[in-house]
Amino acid sequence: MSSLKEHIDLHRLPSHIAVIMDGNGRWAKKHGKPRIFGHRNGVKSVREVTEAAAEIGISYLTLYAFSTENWSRPQLEVNALMSLLVDTLRNEIETLMKNNIRLHAIGDIHKLPKKTEKALLEGIHETSMNDRMTLTLALNYSARWEIKEAAKALAMDVREGILEPGDIDEITFQRYLTTSKMPDPELMIRTSGEKRISNFLLWQSAYTELYFTEIYWPEFRKEDFYAAIIDFQMRERRFGKISEQVTST
Ligand code: IPE
Ligand code: IPE
Ligand code: MG
Repeated sequence: MSSLKEHIDLHRLPSHIAVIMDGNGRWAKKHGKPRIFGHRNGVKSVREVTEAAAEIGISYLTLYAFSTENWSRPQLEVNALMSLLVDTLRNEIETLMKNNIRLHAIGDIHKLPKKTEKALLEGIHETSMNDRMTLTLALNYSARWEIKEAAKALAMDVREGILEPGDIDEITFQRYLTTSKMPDPELMIRTSGEKRISNFLLWQSAYTELYFTEIYWPEFRKEDFYAAIIDFQMRERRFGKISEQVTST
């Protein structure tokens, strides 16, 4: 069977892809099952996309796994998600090691349940020497939280005399964000048909190409990921210029 993979231009790959993994609950409902069944089945999609990204040579893959707003869900669902995270982190480390993938996290991770935080920190530690791809989990993350934290840290540095307010430019500001060591995502994928950003990477996505698909996250497979990359590669990224300026090379 031929794969869409063959149609990807490997010389024009995005270096960073961000994914809003959405639709677990609706997928479960469609199958007459409780929401957590959807979350459990979403793990396979995480594995597929992670492997696909590493195989074609993506350097950074960032997955939105839990937002600061997701704490407002029913307690039972939050608890189930937190323990699913522990199990998944423990089980998937082997795959990450095998594929030479480094695990990283962004978000207020110290406010996660201790067990979840521990499994996460262990995974990060164990994979810290891997260098094929960085897989970042956004956990207890929201962009407004991140921007507020950056503003706070900047204010402190000004107070300490490390920085002058006049020195604060966009490059300085981005150094205070949780993604300071990553390039901005060139492509952001959201599954499940919703067309919004839901507080994900607001600063970093200023010029990101957005890709929305109707597919629910537990059904998202490698081929769907390739389709998103092919769609991205057909677009013209102008960054405020006109078409003739960006094609005249
Ligand atoms: C995404 O699926 C997973 C998380 C937000 C943790 P949802 O749980 O949001 O599924 P829907 O959107 O209700 O279908
Ligand atoms: C966004 O999905 C957060 C994650 C995928 C972790 P939500 O399902 O929480 O987003 P909204 O509430 O539909 O905007
Ligand atoms: Mg949702």
